[in-house]
Amino acid sequence: MGRRRLGAGAAMLGMVATAGVTVAPSAAAAPATVHTADFEQGTGGWYGRGGAQVAPSTTTARSGAQSLAVTGRTQAWEGPGLDARTLLPAGTYDVEAWVRLADTAPELETDVVTLSAARTPTGGTTAYDTVAWQVAVSDSTWTRVGGTYQVGTSNSALELYLESPDATQAFFVDDVTITGEAAGPAEPGTRTDLAADFESGLAGWGPRGAAQVALTTDDAHAGATSLRATNRLEAWQGPTVDVTQGLAVGETVQVSVWAKLAPGSAPASLKASIQRDRGTSTNYDNVAGASAVVTADAWTELRGTYTLGAAIDRAQLYVEGDAGVSFLIDDFSLAGFTETPVQDVPGLKDVLGEDGFEHVGVAIDQRETVGRPAQLVQRHFNAFTPENDGKPAEVQPVEGQFTFGDLDALLDFADATGTQVYGHVLVWHSQTPDWFFLDGQRPLTSSPADQALLRARMEAHIKAIADHVNARYPDGDSPIWAWDVVNEVIADGDNANPHDMRDSRWFQVLGETFVDTAFRLADRYFPQQALFINDYNTEMPTKRADYLELVSSLIARGVPIDGVGHQAHVDFARPVQWLDDSLTAVEKLSARTGRPLLQAITELDVSDSKENNGADVSNGTVPQHSPAMADQDQAETELGYYYRDLFDVLRKHSGSIESVTFWGISNGRSWLRTWPAARPWESPLPFDDDLQVMPAYWGIVDPAQLAARPADVLPPRIAGHDAVPATANRTGTARVTYTAPEAGDTRDRSVKVDCTPRSGSQFTVGTTQVTCTARDKAGNVATPATFDVVVTAAPAQPPAAEHPVVTAVKRLISGILDAVLRLVGRR
Ligand code: XIL
Repeated sequence: MGRRRLGAGAAMLGMVATAGVTVAPSAAAAPATVHTADFEQGTGGWYGRGGAQVAPSTTTARSGAQSLAVTGRTQAWEGPGLDARTLLPAGTYDVEAWVRLADTAPELETDVVTLSAARTPTGGTTAYDTVAWQVAVSDSTWTRVGGTYQVGTSNSALELYLESPDATQAFFVDDVTITGEAAGPAEPGTRTDLAADFESGLAGWGPRGAAQVALTTDDAHAGATSLRATNRLEAWQGPTVDVTQGLAVGETVQVSVWAKLAPGSAPASLKASIQRDRGTSTNYDNVAGASAVVTADAWTELRGTYTLGAAIDRAQLYVEGDAGVSFLIDDFSLAGFTETPVQDVPGLKDVLGEDGFEHVGVAIDQRETVGRPAQLVQRHFNAFTPENDGKPAEVQPVEGQFTFGDLDALLDFADATGTQVYGHVLVWHSQTPDWFFLDGQRPLTSSPADQALLRARMEAHIKAIADHVNARYPDGDSPIWAWDVVNEVIADGDNANPHDMRDSRWFQVLGETFVDTAFRLADRYFPQQALFINDYNTEMPTKRADYLELVSSLIARGVPIDGVGHQAHVDFARPVQWLDDSLTAVEKLSARTGRPLLQAITELDVSDSKENNGADVSNGTVPQHSPAMADQDQAETELGYYYRDLFDVLRKHSGSIESVTFWGISNGRSWLRTWPAARPWESPLPFDDDLQVMPAYWGIVDPAQLAARPADVLPPRIAGHDAVPATANRTGTARVTYTAPEAGDTRDRSVKVDCTPRSGSQFTVGTTQVTCTARDKAGNVATPATFDVVVTAAPAQPPAAEHPVVTAVKRLISGILDAVLRLVGRR
């Protein structure tokens, strides 16, 4: 296990040192810290340029215990370099590094060091800028080498580095800090604002797929005309417009478009999305926040922001929603948007790092590798999970055709920023292409030949990813520290499979041991990474039992599993106590088996929707959720308290929890806003749509900052309960005792539950539903929960054996009878 973990002590040291970095106050908004490196934990993203070598060293340090030693230089331009393209979007920055020469001789040595930038404007050639020119440094003291650096617009490459005209001079670097602010939106000419009111034509809008679009004067949001979309055969079909000119890498735009459904339509979820094409690859992104439940009665605004994360050839914006729904759109605009500067508040990674959490991560894609989102990632997180870019459907959409471009872009960001990566996911049933489970058109069965084929595909997939990563990091220093080896292998309810395993195609073809195979292969190809099993609803008592049962079996079978993941997609109605119980259960399992299991909170978010329909997607994008609390401000405050209580639980388990990952950088980017239907009220994360801290942040960092807790209006939750089997007696009934399901509430902890028929009642043959209710101290009543008692008829009884005395008496009587009959001459 040790091989897979950074020393906790070293991590702590680093945290303390990082937390000590302060940002110079300024009259305007405090500039954000966009990069710091103290070299306590590693090179912090710095690498050797040319033949130069860099390595953390304890020889000398300006702060903490280590600095970065720069050796092996043979040319003036060689030295320590940092990929700063994503860190420094157009804007003005203060860059400083502290330098001290290597002490190689008894006499005082002096030299000069220059801080430079190699910058390649998009489509242009590389230029060399000077940030600090030939600063005199010595081997007796640390000298600040720094200056102000103004970055123009879009660059395809930007590298900061230290150099010296003395080509072989070795030196140490410590305490690098870059602070500053991205400039406002695009300079004129780099991107253009776009708009359409349809008063004088289509303004570039047209149909996507089979949809038909036409101008109409039947209705309009403003003016006389709007655009109608009909014949939408698929969800993605609808009105679309080319927005290539409206976007530039790293610059956030705000999109607004008004929508209304055709008369008589039931409410439907609509959202604005962007298709971006580059070479042969195509990606689809939501416009963060631009989703809503739209009706036929009123115009509804779809408004959100979008940050282009990578160069494109073409981008198209479109409005989509359930297939078949016809709608009108009007008054579209796309304009530059200046996000509020990233706040100068304690980094989550520093606060939680001091509490013993080694990895504090966030789910991202390329949109978070540029501009302000990237700055927020760096201030608060030291790890990330690719939200979608490592999934089977992304990595191997067609058998044998691997597409690593998006994942590589994230690895580049990890390298440039010294961030670690939690890999997600090797083997899963969802977001996995159908070809995995087909032989041509024929679905694979559990025949030995089909099993061999599926196992070979599993191996080819895992091996190809490993080969790719190893080719990028031949020295074995990839930023990937862990993998979700299998995801979501346990079903939510009761089923006939062992451990109630999900009846996925993996399970159907390979049975339970597909999990074993996945771990053994992952261990073979990723020997350095921590290997996790991962699932959602692991806080639910019945699923917890199934999950742990499977994990124990894996351990018993000698499967190389290192950790247990809890997605923790929780909501108001999930008492934090249940997660506490699950974390404890894993710790006990570790103790019992002598196999120390790491734990990871892998996908944390807290929904404030009513819980009852949380996971049911069978309804498609038809609106199916509603806010749990009527008042949005109060809901957000309550979320702050929920986060406080949740982190009280997590901190208790920091000894076993290796990593906590939030599922998204900001509320606008949360999957809950659009999954499976529009939920515009959801505020499940510590940062709002504009990247500013939410009460949830303070709940984690400093609960004293929270407003007073609102009145308790949230009902408790009754846990699921497996069916209870029983056998009837000869009278056709059974007296059945059962344990009532748990009921709980984050504010009231355990809540009393009443069930009818009661435990101990007589149940007749057949299935009887038991209904349970619960009420918390504030009088909030839980949604009733039910479970089945299933009584089967008593098996037909063999004739009961006769008591020997009865037999003897019977014999005696029949003997006497015989004698009497004989006497009367009848025999
Ligand atoms: C979600 C992503 O956040 C969405 O962007 C995507 O459309 C669907 O998947 N459990 C998981 C994650 O393991 O991969 C899911 O991520 C959320 C639930």
